[in-house]
Amino acid sequence: MNAVIKTLITLIQLSLSLFISVNVFAAGGSSIPLLESYNNLRDTDSIKRGAILFNNRCASCHSLKYLRYSTIADRLGWDEETVDKELIHGRAKFHDIFIGGISKESALATYGTEIPDLTLAAKYKSPNFLYTYLKAYYTDENGKANNYAFPGTAMPNILAGDQGARVPVYGDVNGENVIIGTKPYPDPTSQAEKLRLEEKEAKFNQLARDITNFLEFASEPNKIERYDLGIKVILFLLVLLIIFALLKKDYWQDIRKH
Ligand code: HEC
Repeated sequence: MNAVIKTLITLIQLSLSLFISVNVFAAGGSSIPLLESYNNLRDTDSIKRGAILFNNRCASCHSLKYLRYSTIADRLGWDEETVDKELIHGRAKFHDIFIGGISKESALATYGTEIPDLTLAAKYKSPNFLYTYLKAYYTDENGKANNYAFPGTAMPNILAGDQGARVPVYGDVNGENVIIGTKPYPDPTSQAEKLRLEEKEAKFNQLARDITNFLEFASEPNKIERYDLGIKVILFLLVLLIIFALLKKDYWQDIRKH
């Protein structure tokens, strides 16, 4: 009986591993403090908005080679017609792979580098890195766009219109004076202007979060199911553990009596 209980405990430990996601290079290889994306994979509306935003703003350059329209539809509760209206626009079939990206040759010719496929970006970089990257563009002293999460990135500031003009904010990181954020430029001159900029920033944060949420979803569309299954398995094993513990007590009682 003891062996059964030990096995159950091992199984519970194993099921806990269902909750662990591996993030290789979690910090994106950078030493800058990352912003918290507050991703929520249960926020289906945010993921849907993110999918549409990605389609309109990112897919002209980036592919999502491991994601099918039908997977998006299944997991987000879109029917075939809606996914066509929102994402496909008659260009592909329901079970096809997400359309996006440009050829390696044109990427090299235009941007001097290859453009990464983003299906697994949330795994090899982390959602917080993606969120920070989208918010990290600023205008440097020469009037050029740069990105403090990926200095010198070849990617243009695609969301400039949504974010508005920004300049860097410096701070101390491990004794070094580095860029840790951005602020609007020029400084607001009135309370009304300040409010307007704050609203714009809140809207932009939501937009960046929706795209990040969608990219985390794209990196593992079954993540929520995996979590939910993990909880069910653990509850089931806990119930079994209690039953076996009670049985053990009962059996030993009889043995001691004889
Ligand atoms: C006009 C083309 C273009 C568009 C549109 C575009 N990107 Fe990029 N993106 C690039 C290029 C080029 C790179 C490679 C940058 C480099 O290696 O210097 C890149 C790199 C990236 C990276 C990788 C960063 C890293 O550290 O490896 C991420 C993440 C990314 N883009 C996200 C997005 C998202 C999200 C959108 C939509 C909001 C988007 N991109 C839209 C061209 C684009």
